[in-house]
Amino acid sequence: MTDQPTLRDGELVLRPWRLEDSEATRHLHDDEIARWFDFPTRAPSPEEHRSWIERTGSEWAEQARATFLVEWRGRAAGSVDVRLQDQGVGVLSWVVYAPFRGRGLGWRAVRLLVEWSFDALGLQRVEAHVNPRNRASVRTALRAGLRKEGLLRGNTTLAGVTQDTLVLGRRRGDAHPDSREGFTAMLDSTLPTKRAIAQGVLRSKTGEILLCELVYKREWDLPGGVVDRDESPAACVVREVREELDLTVAAGRLLAVNWLPPLLGWADATVFVFDLGTLDAELVEQARLQQREIRAVHWTGPADWTGRVAPYNERLLTTLHGHTGDTLYLEDGTPTA
Ligand SMILES: CC(C)(COP(=O)(O)OP(=O)(O)OC[C@H]1O[C@@H](n2cnc3c(N)ncnc32)[C@H](O)[C@@H]1OP(=O)(O)O)[C@@H](O)C(=O)NCCC(=O)NCCS
Repeated sequence: MTDQPTLRDGELVLRPWRLEDSEATRHLHDDEIARWFDFPTRAPSPEEHRSWIERTGSEWAEQARATFLVEWRGRAAGSVDVRLQDQGVGVLSWVVYAPFRGRGLGWRAVRLLVEWSFDALGLQRVEAHVNPRNRASVRTALRAGLRKEGLLRGNTTLAGVTQDTLVLGRRRGDAHPDSREGFTAMLDSTLPTKRAIAQGVLRSKTGEILLCELVYKREWDLPGGVVDRDESPAACVVREVREELDLTVAAGRLLAVNWLPPLLGWADATVFVFDLGTLDAELVEQARLQQREIRAVHWTGPADWTGRVAPYNERLLTTLHGHTGDTLYLEDGTPTA
């Protein structure tokens, strides 16, 4: 095994730990480090700390882990490491000592380590396992170019309390975090996504509205469904009506946008309600219903809705009934203004 190198980015240096670093760094152990690594709050003893430094050398020799002291303007400011796993994967970890926090050393040190891991160690992927409440560390990982990938629920404990773990990762071929594409991908991985549903109002020549009696729930509902990834709401309602009723329709005017708050374990959702025009009642009678989802379809009016449709849908249908004006904005079926 070759000697562990020294890496540089201006005044920031990553170099192998030496036994003589122990006295300058041992007392920089603090509650923040103890909290997130579940270490004792007391500083390690001189023997414990020196044997840890020795271990960093043997782990390098065994190609198990590369641990670097973070030096800033010649002073020991922290420690970063990458633990080597099978399949070219490295697991990252980092510490910046309290006097050096808050000036962006953490992410710069991690980024230097990551790029060296790709270039010199030939890793294909690096990842970090971070407590989602450790905000400074989540920011550190993102700025180092890792993307949020997923949440492991209740897979670890801190001080005996069950905790979740956020997994963040960067792959060798990912766009560089300083490029527009890389920055966008990082930010995109952190932004909330909201469920979208597209439904359609099909009317009979006499103004009744078509509702579906469903196999999987008691309440009747408008035809439509959940919008797929990269699908527009208008394309979704056309696809859903074809799948559910075997009818070809065109998505007409947007009648309403209805935001539904979280309900019975479902996340909140935004419903786009389109006008699908009028249909001959016989056409619907001949429709081939998708047996897996639809038991029957019914032409309905206000007298049929109470008790048959969900309360928020009764409010929506009542509002839509006879409304011919602009697109409505509703929350839980109710106009907000
Ligand atoms: C996580 C850690 C390495 C960050 O190092 P750092 O050099 O201070 O990081 P930065 O200066 O880039 O700050 C990162 C973010 O945390 C915030 N932050 C940093 N120090 C802070 C402090 N003392 N108080 C409040 N916020 C702080 C910064 O404002 C920044 O947020 P922003 O991007 O929204 O502006 C450091 O806090 C640390 O060593 N923590 C304990 C060890 C740890 O948690 N390791 C990771 C285990 S997976």
